[in-house]
Amino acid sequence: MQTEKWWQKAVVYQVYPKSFQDSNHDGIGDIRGIIQRLDYIKTLGVDVIWLNPIYKSPDIDGGYDISDYQNINPTFGSMADFDELLSKAHAMGLKIIMDLVVNHSSFQHDWFQKSLASSELDNDYRDYYVWRDPVDGHEPNNWGSFFSGPAWTYDEKSGQYYLHLFAKEQPDLNWDNPKVRHSIFDMMNWWAAKGIDGFRMDVISLISKPDGLPDAPITGDSIFGNPGPVVSNGPHVHQYIREMNNKVLSKHDWMTVGETTGMNVNDAKKYANIDGSELDMLFQFEHVGYDGDTNAAQGHFSGYTPKLKDIRDSIVKWQTAFDGTGWTSLYWSNHDQPRAVSWFGNKAPEYRELSAKMLAALLHFLQGTPYIYQGEELGMTNNDAFQSITQYRDVETLTLYRQTVEQKKLTSSKEMLDYLRIHSRDNTRTPMQWDTSSNAGFSDSTPWLETNPNYQAINAKAALDNPDSIFYFYQKLIKLRHQLPVITDGTFKLLPDNEQDDHIFAYTRTNSETTLLIIANFTSDTVTRDYDVPKAAQLLIQNYTDDQETTIRPYEVKVYQYPTKSLKK
Ligand code: NOJ
Repeated sequence: MQTEKWWQKAVVYQVYPKSFQDSNHDGIGDIRGIIQRLDYIKTLGVDVIWLNPIYKSPDIDGGYDISDYQNINPTFGSMADFDELLSKAHAMGLKIIMDLVVNHSSFQHDWFQKSLASSELDNDYRDYYVWRDPVDGHEPNNWGSFFSGPAWTYDEKSGQYYLHLFAKEQPDLNWDNPKVRHSIFDMMNWWAAKGIDGFRMDVISLISKPDGLPDAPITGDSIFGNPGPVVSNGPHVHQYIREMNNKVLSKHDWMTVGETTGMNVNDAKKYANIDGSELDMLFQFEHVGYDGDTNAAQGHFSGYTPKLKDIRDSIVKWQTAFDGTGWTSLYWSNHDQPRAVSWFGNKAPEYRELSAKMLAALLHFLQGTPYIYQGEELGMTNNDAFQSITQYRDVETLTLYRQTVEQKKLTSSKEMLDYLRIHSRDNTRTPMQWDTSSNAGFSDSTPWLETNPNYQAINAKAALDNPDSIFYFYQKLIKLRHQLPVITDGTFKLLPDNEQDDHIFAYTRTNSETTLLIIANFTSDTVTRDYDVPKAAQLLIQNYTDDQETTIRPYEVKVYQYPTKSLKK
């Protein structure tokens, strides 16, 4: 391994500001709310906070539609509030990384307004976005938006279409225009001067569009092509990221994580290059993306349950491919995914805590940088109280529902609502559950999105009062990562015979000094396995109070530690 970087030992806590803590009684989380909760984050023991977008935005897509990259959304506070958050976090030894959303801007961004304004197609800002003439009176190609519907919107005034891979209010920036790139790099350096510690880069693998914008493959019942395969890893993406690295990233001791869709290990290595010429690590979606028939009309929204074998195969593949040649991120959930315990674990009262701890340990002993999504450390669950489409706020959820249920009648409302309770992005966006007071202590006004009613039982106060809580289990895992070098540098190996096991995920991490053996039951069945644990092994952490050696109980996880040279028993 090359010289260790600070982010290789770090654990990141993801804060979704809108749902974290309201301080000004409007039912929406804000920056001063985050300041109030810094002690809580520090107690957990993490090193870095990743803030979802807090920039000025009409908030069509949870702030991923930015209208001013150098201003704070007034709903979240002011730039002075941000400066205070940054300096208080730094004083507590916490770093802050921001979200960089530059595949697209908001339609309300000055650049797009200027791009739209002129009937002259050659005005200075026209070329900041991707405009094309109609072909045979319709869209320039067959691309669909990732939020469903066409990826092109027609502008009457100029008689051209503009491209938006997401909502129509999120026009794609034209990275082929050097002026766009330089404006973005200047903006990034402006944030650097404020002292931030890095960026999470939204859909960064989509920034370079393929020459000629060819049609995309049509899948399932869709009338639009899925642009994913044709717009990911475009022809100039590495050139542009290297330029960004040269002009911005290389000048700062930052951590950078690129969000990339549809990534394979070989392509991923080009971005998360060990020589530091591009980004430090990526978010890829393979292990969380096994969600059934993506050809179906409702895409990945389905009742499918993920299989241990798929998840394990994917984790093994990425752990092995990156060992010594790159770095990866580790996560189960985020603001776009279901709650980890609902999707991969078991939210039934008797299993919720056990399965949340099992998932935590399984992930935190892997190589990479772990990310904890707010509330995951409490075992927060999807919101089963969402029973009507009127309770949802997420643009993807609402667009998909409109398309599949109301317009095309491809699925019934009941069926879609069942899927939404599993997959809607609003499941992880419900307010953070702090205590048993009204609205879970998130706000004393009606929250922008309903609180999960289970906050009476699942909340931070209860967790902090209980030494056996999921919270303290995470705290212990984070401490171990800081203390034991093997968690950062050890080689990953799946136990022999584990590839086909339907219940257990068991692996080792080994360096010259220490070996860790992680055994995790992914199911509610009790099973028997003999893993030939060396005599010298000590139990480092577990989620039951006793050890039964060969019997592995529902969602049990145990981690043994022994000297690498110790003899087998
Ligand atoms: C990925 C973000 O995580 C998601 O929330 C957003 O909708 C899309 N990118 C578009 O910016």
